[in-house]
Amino acid sequence: TRSLDLAVIPGDGIGPEVVAQALRVLQTVASSSDIDLAQREYPLGADHWRATGETLTEDTMHALRQHDAILFGAVGADPRSTDIPSGLIEREMLLKLRFSFDHYINLRPSKLLPGATSPLSNPGEIDFVVVREGTEGPYVGNGGRLRADTDQEIATEVSLNTAHGVERLVRYAFELAQTRRKKLTLIHKTNVLVNAGKLYSRYFNAIAAEYRDVQTDYLHIDAATIFMTTDPARFDVIVTDNLFGDIITDQAGAITGGIGYAASGNINASGEFPSMFEPVHGSAPDIAGQNIANPTAAILAVALLLKHRGFEAEGAKIEQAVEKDLAQHIGETRSTDAIGDDIIAVLTGEK
Ligand code: NAD
Ligand code: IPM
Ligand code: MN
Repeated sequence: TRSLDLAVIPGDGIGPEVVAQALRVLQTVASSSDIDLAQREYPLGADHWRATGETLTEDTMHALRQHDAILFGAVGADPRSTDIPSGLIEREMLLKLRFSFDHYINLRPSKLLPGATSPLSNPGEIDFVVVREGTEGPYVGNGGRLRADTDQEIATEVSLNTAHGVERLVRYAFELAQTRRKKLTLIHKTNVLVNAGKLYSRYFNAIAAEYRDVQTDYLHIDAATIFMTTDPARFDVIVTDNLFGDIITDQAGAITGGIGYAASGNINASGEFPSMFEPVHGSAPDIAGQNIANPTAAILAVALLLKHRGFEAEGAKIEQAVEKDLAQHIGETRSTDAIGDDIIAVLTGEK
């Protein structure tokens, strides 16, 4: 038998709803394989902060580090509650995990599955992967407020980009492109953000010379959103910085049937720290507690997790079950539980 020791952080809003279905699917796949599955749940997030004033303590970080991987739902307090400072849970949990565990590759695949409905009238064959930087850029929290809350306020956000960070990101993207259709697009805003732009272009061009079989191109982020709408099938692998990657992957989710299908991996490719898998979406306070969230992204995040840990066949089984389930329910509106039930029924051969 092969073991898998998971940390599970369901989080806030629809996070626990979609994670519950993802765990049921995982159990189903594990029980029909030789995977010896252990999991520990960490009930962290907005409610935990309200009860304790804590987000992630050093003890919790230490405990999380011992696991093989982390399954994360979503965090973020309902904006109708005003007791929690905006973005605090997101920064002190999600970003802290990404930064502390050096999740420098934020891997976000997008595929229009047969049976999913794209809002594009002519979507074509959408199948690309965004390799988003995960530990740098404007996300580092550099900056501040001068003369805060006055009519002379000056607010700055400084984007931090290192040669080390850009090189390992770009190299990963070229390696990935080589295993796919061998096309890599750099997305940035080099016409305005000239400093980070030069750093990205320099490594992109230098590493391209080592991967001559990979065809490269470059798009400014604004133009990239045009092609993401008019011709998304042109993309194979996209490499981009933390913030542009955040934005373009929500759009990518939307064109492939909805954000409820978009899964992601926060990868520490050096293997020093546990990688973390999660839906691209957030806690969706607007639909939380209604059993209507789509759990597919969380379920596909489990598939990414399994593949990352070497359980290729089991991960593929989940992806195939999701595809088959979608094809069986085109255009139907189903509850969160029902989608979980249906995917499990496919896995057990009942459907
Ligand atoms: P969101 O992704 O939570 O929701 C955007 C829209 O998509 C909403 O209308 C929501 O109902 C819908 N949606 C999201 N997931 C869905 C699903 N599985 N099925 C069906 N519909 C779904 O983004 P937001 O509204 O900007 O953010 C809400 C909170 O989540 C904020 O606090 C934000 O900071 C946080 N957030 C957290 C993460 C994360 O934990 N990884 C990611 C994004 C946003
Ligand atoms: C995501 C989210 C996060 C991000 C937020 C909640 C910090 O939007 O995972 O895409 O911006 O990375
Ligand atoms: Mn996002």
